[in-house]
Amino acid sequence: MADLNDEGANPALDLLLNRRSHHRLTDPGPGDAALDLILRAALRVPDFGRLRPFRFLAARGEGRIRLGQALQRAAVAAGRPPHVVERAPRMPLRAPLVIVAIASPRADQTVPLFDQQLCAAGTVLTMQLAARALGFSGVWRSGWPMYDRGVHRELDLTEQEQIVGFLYLGTPVQDTDPRPPANHPSDYLVWL
Ligand SMILES: Cc1cc2nc3c(=O)[nH]c(=O)nc-3n(C[C@H](O)[C@H](O)[C@H](O)COP(=O)(O)O)c2cc1C
Repeated sequence: MADLNDEGANPALDLLLNRRSHHRLTDPGPGDAALDLILRAALRVPDFGRLRPFRFLAARGEGRIRLGQALQRAAVAAGRPPHVVERAPRMPLRAPLVIVAIASPRADQTVPLFDQQLCAAGTVLTMQLAARALGFSGVWRSGWPMYDRGVHRELDLTEQEQIVGFLYLGTPVQDTDPRPPANHPSDYLVWL
């Protein structure tokens, strides 16, 4: 049993209690060995029926440029405003590594679609935490590209698939402000 009065001495708890997102990210991003660990952590997500209802796309280097071009084509096709079209190619350049997490549901009699999508979403936070444990940071983003069917087509998603997150990973440009004082956890808890 962990010492409940010394959370700082418990690295796993420290990671969970003090995790922050970083929006401004630069090199280095996770290399192949780090990415392998990050994906292995994702594969340990709670998974009803072990359906593995997810898959990932990753972009770094030139791949981010191709991803940005795909976002821009989709923005044009959807008739989005000029400032959105203009900005689209730069979106993936905000971090050295971008992972697109995709819920890829399996036909199953037992496990509902929503369970499978929750499972896929769980991989995003797991990967963010794993990246943090490896000395990187990142941010989980959605935005219009997450829901845009044109983006889905550009990225070869099936009709059943849904993007559950764009995970931007790299090295923080600057520390975030200290975490604002948390609400008391009991504000979110009702005992039955
Ligand atoms: C599904 C999901 C989508 C999100 N999309 C965005 C986004 O598009 N842009 C953004 O700035 N933050 C987004 N966030 C919030 C950030 O990931 C982050 O949690 C937030 O900036 C607060 O920082 P913190 O994680 O350090 O508390 C999203 C979070 C989730 C769970």
